[in-house]
Amino acid sequence: MIKKYVQNLKSFLKNHKPETLIILGSGLGALAQNIEHAQKISYENLGFPKINVSGHAGQLTLGRVGGKDVLLMEGRYHLYEGHQPELIKDLLSAFAAVGIKRLVVTNAAGSLNPKIKAGSVVIIKDHINLSGKNPLIGVNNDSLGPRFPSMNNVYDVSERKKLKKIGARMGLKLREGVYMMVLGPNFETPSEVRAFRRLGADMVGMSTVTEVITAAYLSMPVTGLSVITNMAAGLQKTAPSHAETLEMAQKASQTLVALLHAYLEEL
Ligand code: HPA
Repeated sequence: MIKKYVQNLKSFLKNHKPETLIILGSGLGALAQNIEHAQKISYENLGFPKINVSGHAGQLTLGRVGGKDVLLMEGRYHLYEGHQPELIKDLLSAFAAVGIKRLVVTNAAGSLNPKIKAGSVVIIKDHINLSGKNPLIGVNNDSLGPRFPSMNNVYDVSERKKLKKIGARMGLKLREGVYMMVLGPNFETPSEVRAFRRLGADMVGMSTVTEVITAAYLSMPVTGLSVITNMAAGLQKTAPSHAETLEMAQKASQTLVALLHAYLEEL
């Protein structure tokens, strides 16, 4: 499988050598529309599995952001769609094989922390994997990464500092938070939300962690940003919904686009 992905990516990239892969979360496709010299290919034409969730286009864009060649995944593979966690390992290994050296992950998340409001962008400082799944299960290929990879300083501290400075320059007060991954697809119960808060998480979502575990395994530095689309269940009057997630993500996505532009300029 990896071989096929690598071949298809190589023939798409031709002589381009992007080193950064950005994964765009639900409703956060705006960056892909604000990209210079964009060339797009559908996941289908890359031999990648189909994406089913709305708000995710299912295409890869090559282009320039902040003067850097980047690859954008518009549409991510969620485990709640039935995708196997190993798929994430296969895809990211293929990206690494064609020269990707850094991962930027973005997502839409619910806030567990009353100080973190809907519409804000949060720098992910660490995560808690409550999904019960792991992309590294199975016989290990030692040439890709270690059997027991460390998860220390996965969300690179110097990159987080850089983002904070850029945010301050833009007049944004960027907080840092711990992201909790659940499997989904249902939103949490209010009791789960209280429990997750006690466990030390600031935001909750249904993605990202499998990608980050794989990146750490492949020794790729990671930068993570959450767009807070709602207060998690029980912390706001209305129940969370996918429509609300998409609407708020679209509203906040201009901030995210501006931030990523400035960040990539400094990479
Ligand atoms: N819970 C889980 N995932 C989410 C949420 C939420 O409240 N909001 C956006 N993604």
